[in-house]
Amino acid sequence: MQVNINGAAIHVTDAGTPERMPVLFVHGFPFSGAMWEPQMEAAGRFYRTVSYDIRGLGRSGIGDGQYTIEGHVDDLIGLLDHLDIDKTVLAGLSMGGYIALRALERNPERFLAAVLCDTRSEGDDNAGKLKRAAAAAAVKQSGAGAFADSFVPAVFAPESFQTKPQAVQLIRDIIAATSPLAIAGHLIAMAGRTDTTASLASIGIPTLIMVGEKDAVTPPACAQAMHERIPGSELHLVPGAAHMSNLENPEFFNARLLDFMEGIAGG
Ligand code: MLT
Repeated sequence: MQVNINGAAIHVTDAGTPERMPVLFVHGFPFSGAMWEPQMEAAGRFYRTVSYDIRGLGRSGIGDGQYTIEGHVDDLIGLLDHLDIDKTVLAGLSMGGYIALRALERNPERFLAAVLCDTRSEGDDNAGKLKRAAAAAAVKQSGAGAFADSFVPAVFAPESFQTKPQAVQLIRDIIAATSPLAIAGHLIAMAGRTDTTASLASIGIPTLIMVGEKDAVTPPACAQAMHERIPGSELHLVPGAAHMSNLENPEFFNARLLDFMEGIAGG
């Protein structure tokens, strides 16, 4: 369904088992809620499962094409209000993790537990900001198809091209269909995001951290650093996976996710 959140048409999937504990999935850049399909299905057997397309991405409206992580948190909270969800489990992958970490810092009262996947708490360093600036200029010049061609090999493990061709194709198709202006807008938003490292020690809810063992975008060392700071957190390296750990090894990912959620729902 499409809902209006803070002036943009946001595409939302509200599924699973409605009367059970909700889990909200926040996707990475520049993907869409469709990347969470294996988790929506697996967790949906036991829980209310919600995913959405961040403005400018997937089937959501582009808004004005100017984005900040802060604005994405406004949308996330606006969406929870719209769906009448007081508290939820919050799961974010990569940019979805940046949004989740800032939401946990800003609105901790809205979350029961956190699942941080292939993400990091540090902001971009100067080299990272310059790389984003170059990529923003390039995507407006060369288009989303060329951006997808260069991006996809960076986020999947080499063997996933053989073992998970449908997942690779899904991500490539999503990126290629995205507005270059929106891709540039999100690159600039990520370059301008805050560093949430200082608040990790204050996360007072159960936290599951997962990262592909071969993730080169947000490497396992970033996950380890968050694990050391977040009290009582649980860390798992996802075997055989790179940055798209939920799609590259959904069996392992879903098993850890469901175990974790059972602990929250039952506890
Ligand atoms: C993502 O997957 O969301 C992005 O690759 C994260 C990033 O570029 O920092």
